[in-house]
Amino acid sequence: MSGVTSTWTEPSNSPVALLLLGHGTDPASERGVDCPGDLPAPSDPGLVARATAAKAALGDRVFVLGHHYQRDEVIQFADVTGDSFKLAQQAAARPEAEFIVFCGVHFMAESADILTKPSQRVILPDLAAGCSMADMAVLGQVETAWEHFEDLGITDQIVPVTYMNSSADIKGFVGRNSGVVCTSSNAKRALTWSFEQGSKVFFLPDQHLGRNTAVLEMGFDLDDCVLYDPHKPHGGLTGEQLRNARMILWRGHCSVHGRFTIDSVREVRERVPGVNVLVHPECRHDVVRAADYVGSTEYIIRALDAAPAGSAWAVGTELNLVRRLALAHPDKQIMFLDRAVCYCSTMNRIDLPHLVWALEELVAGRVPNVITVDEKTAREARVALDQMLALP
Ligand code: 13P
Ligand code: SF4
Repeated sequence: MSGVTSTWTEPSNSPVALLLLGHGTDPASERGVDCPGDLPAPSDPGLVARATAAKAALGDRVFVLGHHYQRDEVIQFADVTGDSFKLAQQAAARPEAEFIVFCGVHFMAESADILTKPSQRVILPDLAAGCSMADMAVLGQVETAWEHFEDLGITDQIVPVTYMNSSADIKGFVGRNSGVVCTSSNAKRALTWSFEQGSKVFFLPDQHLGRNTAVLEMGFDLDDCVLYDPHKPHGGLTGEQLRNARMILWRGHCSVHGRFTIDSVREVRERVPGVNVLVHPECRHDVVRAADYVGSTEYIIRALDAAPAGSAWAVGTELNLVRRLALAHPDKQIMFLDRAVCYCSTMNRIDLPHLVWALEELVAGRVPNVITVDEKTAREARVALDQMLALP
């Protein structure tokens, strides 16, 4: 809109030193691996032209998917942008594309591999783009928990549900135990289906999405939920607590959304009278409870598109998306819920140099950074993913 200046102001920098994004690895905390070959320099002024040329040379052979948390420099090359659910659907709907370049994180690329044909190859431009939440549930830990539930004789009542933000082997566990995958845009439907199959849900790995959906959308009490801590014997729970629980929540969370606090909500309400607080359901329960609106990234985009000019919004989700929305709607006052920087560092691993590198490798006839899920895991995970895609 001409003549209108955006009200967006950058949040202040975090006092914590960050890894230089897109460079180096941190094997202690991420699936860090270096890219084979030469990465273009981030300062290369020809990067946009190189990505454009490589993509044009590949034509319909390549399909680029971009999650909403990706950087602007990357999202401009996405054929489709979306939340985790939409991207899973889109990956499944492109059987003609030889290469799916996934600008997102590792678990999303794994799901795309599971949902695409064996001849299609899914490429993650930087293999260090993992997800700290997905890494909080490891298959061995989950199987130990399940064995304990078997000892208690309660597994026939339990339906396992895993958030899309989990590794393929966790999805495989859920598939072979007749459960379902969910995303932030269909969690209520997935839980409704699950409670038609059994009387308890074992929800992995995001305690907040599980609790927020059960309590705020399905009418459960907080007391119906127990928190299973994989680092404590028997999850830190008694047999009686597990027998009485309706929702057994895995102790996992998103390190980005976990940052928003009830104080951020209070502070913005004091500072901006009439502000609408809009948050992602990965935020903590008290934050979601105090917010005016809650939903997936796709929901957040739609809500701001539909908001009247002049309205004020404090948005509790990843900063790349909030900034993009603020700049796209200069007639609305859109701000970040927290005053400090809150990027998802692993989403940010995918930058333009990595995208250019991946596309140019494909043009040269080499297929880099292929994400492959082994056949057995893929078959079992697909049961849980297909169940999600078939939810009423
Ligand atoms: P959605 O895009 O499904 O809302 O998920 C957010 C997220 O954290 C993805 O990692
Ligand atoms: Fe994982 Fe949170 Fe980043 Fe999403 S925003 S990829 S859940 S760490």
